[in-house]
Amino acid sequence: MCRICGGAVSEFFDFGRQPLSDTFLRADEVSGEYFFRLAVGVCEDCSMVQLLDEVPRDRMFHADYPYHSSGSARMRNHFEQTARDFLDTELTGTDPFVVEIGCNDGVMLRTFREAGIRHLGFEPSRGVADLARADGIRVLTDYFEESSAVRIRESDGPADVIFAANTICHIPYLGSIFRGMEALLAPDGVFVFEDPYLGDIIRLNTFDQIYDEHFFLFSVNSVRTAARRFGFELVDVRRLPVHGGEVRYTIARTGARPVSPAVDALAAEERDRGLIDPATFERFGADVKRICGELVELLRRLRAEGKRVAGYGATAKSATVTNYCGIGPELVDVVYDTTPAKHGRLMPGSHIPVRPASELAETRPDFAVLFAWNHAEEIQVKEKAFHESGGRWITYVPDVRIT
Ligand code: SAH
Ligand code: TMP
Ligand code: ZN
Repeated sequence: MCRICGGAVSEFFDFGRQPLSDTFLRADEVSGEYFFRLAVGVCEDCSMVQLLDEVPRDRMFHADYPYHSSGSARMRNHFEQTARDFLDTELTGTDPFVVEIGCNDGVMLRTFREAGIRHLGFEPSRGVADLARADGIRVLTDYFEESSAVRIRESDGPADVIFAANTICHIPYLGSIFRGMEALLAPDGVFVFEDPYLGDIIRLNTFDQIYDEHFFLFSVNSVRTAARRFGFELVDVRRLPVHGGEVRYTIARTGARPVSPAVDALAAEERDRGLIDPATFERFGADVKRICGELVELLRRLRAEGKRVAGYGATAKSATVTNYCGIGPELVDVVYDTTPAKHGRLMPGSHIPVRPASELAETRPDFAVLFAWNHAEEIQVKEKAFHESGGRWITYVPDVRIT
């Protein structure tokens, strides 16, 4: 049943049994590992693309949540620029107040703290929340939802901007989020969020964007319908080149802001391209199967030729690739990553060991599967020596390729 409107959800792909994508295991934790069925479908009534099964939120977002947003220089720049844009546009009044949902280690709020702007982050994962707090940022170790939003409205007053990046798509209880907006957003305030865009996922075959945390795959049509349903209005959209293609949605109270022509334009493009037509999902599903087949065949061939293949980027996305395609330590012996909290742990489900990224240069495998393809440019510059000494990158979206 659709988490937005209660309509029937028609399943279009089943990835089978999958682990928690961001739970990196110690050797003694392997036997108790949690699995769920990762299947994705589209609501026949409101067109929202969503997972069929939901993982309880406390299993995903807890003190050991290992994803650190500040790990990418490009994303640090992206969020600094985003914050500066808000300072120039939405936050020019007297004593403005900005709230972030899912502030993680403070990658975005840092700029507001430096500018002396009243701010608050909601971040249920205590480990990353503590990092932000250590940086002088004001953080509530809690989920944003109706009740917590009401409490902040009472203590802090209305918010001019409520922002979220790569977080709203993690939240199945979207109705509670909008009731929280109703309570906390100033009459002329904006709720701005950016998430992976269904249009890019379908176009570029980035099937590994589908995992436990990515409960919704948003499109302009589905977000516009959801906003209306909850008493708000989608007033602007903008495509972003980060994380393999995202859209930034700006939502306001109904009638409070003019609606940009960009909304209708992108909504029409989605319809023209048949974004949610059954034939589109069929093509996508066939491509996913083909890509997995080709990737595994390549890895088997390289192994048979005596080549050593590693992985790079212990991303949440890589859980879907490795577990759906059946890639274990016999094909990819280790995954390199810069996040200290992941080192010495095992990848979810596949149990491939994670090692510090510095070891890529020291151990120089023949090939490295670039699981963090969304950071390709940054990583390939950083690891230039790998390629110059003959190492080759393997990517698998939109197609399997060696570069
Ligand atoms: N905004 C950062 C972090 C994205 S990861 C970035 O773009 O890089 C998603 C974050 O949302 C996690 O840190 C998780 O703990 C947090 N989160 C999940 N549900 C939440 C909720 N209901 N309210 C606030 N944060 C939430
Ligand atoms: P993400 O795709 O969800 O942002 O995760 C990126 C992962 O890749 C994260 O675990 C950090 C890692 N990483 C590196 O190992 N090296 C890098 O240069 C970058 C940018 C990320
Ligand atoms: Zn629906």
